[in-house]
Amino acid sequence: MKKGLLILFTLVLIVSLMGTISLAKSVEDLVTNNGDCSTCHQPGTDDSLESILTNGHMPVDNADEDGVKACLKCHGQFASDIGNTLHKKHLVGTPDSNEFLAGVKSGENNCVSCHDFKVKSGKVTVSGL
Ligand code: HEC
Ligand code: HEC
Ligand code: HEC
Repeated sequence: MKKGLLILFTLVLIVSLMGTISLAKSVEDLVTNNGDCSTCHQPGTDDSLESILTNGHMPVDNADEDGVKACLKCHGQFASDIGNTLHKKHLVGTPDSNEFLAGVKSGENNCVSCHDFKVKSGKVTVSGL
């Protein structure tokens, strides 16, 4: 009887330990998946921030070097809020119509593609800001 209880206790311990380990792994994944604009909009390529903003957009100084910081010189002040603007471009549509959402569907892209989740403080910021 006592031995049975001990086995049961050990089993419960192992299961709860496994739970903790898998939680730790998922939080670690959140942090290691973190990137900024340049992960996808690589400087010097056709996908760079400087290249994609030519379509009727006014010239942006140092977009490739400064990333999202370069946008805040106007956006949020005398141009549309950059958060809403970027959410609309990346997260609105379907995986068929929007390449970023296709990446969300396949598990490559998500909020921490741009945002940075701090495991210790629980704070969410934007990478590069
Ligand atoms: C994980 C990859 C990824 C990251 C990170 C990313 N983007 Fe994008 N971005 C894309 C893809 C893919 C598209 C094209 C979406 C579509 O099919 O319409 C896009 C589209 C855009 C567009 C719209 C271009 C157009 O043709 O109108 C802008 C502007 C943009 N991104 C800026 C940014 C900025 C600024 C950041 C960083 C804060 C950023 N992106 C981070 C993948 C990414
Ligand atoms: C010199 C000022 C300036 C800078 C710097 C700037 N923008 Fe803009 N942007 C504007 C203005 C003005 C508009 C048009 C009016 C509006 O959307 O408020 C605009 C519009 C846009 C739009 C279209 C908005 C929509 O709803 O369709 C996107 C996308 C955009 N900007 C992305 C960016 C990104 C990404 C950066 C940084 C890499 C950036 N902009 C830097 C001034 C700027
Ligand atoms: C393409 C990059 C990108 C992606 C992907 C993205 N965000 Fe953002 N987000 C931003 C930027 C840039 C800001 C503006 C930060 C600032 O103005 O200081 C922002 C701001 C925010 C804010 C603050 C309120 C606001 O709109 O300014 C919230 C909340 C937020 N994002 C939630 C999310 C969630 C939830 C997801 C995933 C479903 C997500 N974001 C995906 C770039 C992104």
